[in-house]
Amino acid sequence: MELLRVDRVVKRFGGLIAVNDVSLSLEKGERLGLIGPNGAGKTTLFNLISGYYKPDRGKIIFKGKDITGRKPYEISRLGIGRTFQIVKPLPNLTTLENVAVGSLLKHPDVDEAMRRASEILRTVGLYDKRNMKAASLNLPEKKRLELARSLAIEPDLLLLDEVVAGLNPSEVDEFLKLLKEINESGIAILMVEHVMRAVMNISERIIVMDYGVKIAEGTPDEVASNPRVIEAYLGREEL
Ligand SMILES: Nc1ncnc2c1ncn2[C@@H]1O[C@H](COP(=O)(O)OP(=O)(O)OP(=O)(O)O)[C@@H](O)[C@H]1O
Ligand SMILES: [Mg+2]
Repeated sequence: MELLRVDRVVKRFGGLIAVNDVSLSLEKGERLGLIGPNGAGKTTLFNLISGYYKPDRGKIIFKGKDITGRKPYEISRLGIGRTFQIVKPLPNLTTLENVAVGSLLKHPDVDEAMRRASEILRTVGLYDKRNMKAASLNLPEKKRLELARSLAIEPDLLLLDEVVAGLNPSEVDEFLKLLKEINESGIAILMVEHVMRAVMNISERIIVMDYGVKIAEGTPDEVASNPRVIEAYLGREEL
């Protein structure tokens, strides 16, 4: 069953077309990767799907509803959670409070929101850090907190923007294991990632963007051997 459909979406910034006529479809529970060189338009596409930007053209359909141009809080309430490329927890709140802020969207009762937030912290392995200020967490912990916050709205789809960037190889492996567990609980994942090993490992299917345009789509093996994809990455630092 189709969960998300992006239909010929365009986003301009002045003269620059950051996302140029991009379409994609994602099935319920699917793991889809989105890759492309710096500036390809990946984060902009996330901002369009999650309502931070309005597309200049095109449509975004989630669970059969047209969500084009809706506000971020409405879209998260409908079931799209996201992480930010630059992690931004509320530094003076505790780890638990950071997650509970999201849980309150679904559970206005504070005790219930706290209970839900605690469960999510157990899932992501941060329960022991629940009373620490978010600012005092190290990078892998902050990444887990960012994930926990996106889970707090009880999403059917997670948009993950470079969640393993900056982690060492064993931290990446642990994070991927966690993402697979989350996916097995029925949550679809759309993942933007420069760490190729991670995105190749997690994705059932991959979409490649370059200069705002979708240039390839297929299995990890298919896109890795696609001449257009290799060309787009040639001489650039990511590969
Ligand atoms: N708010 C904005 N105003 C003007 N230009 C923007 C804005 N956001 C993004 N851009 C431009 O749009 C293009 C796409 O940027 P975007 O951040 O979506 O790329 P990306 O694929 O996420 O890159 P990276 O891999 O470096 O994160 C870039 O040229 C960028 O400079
Ligand atoms: Mg980006």
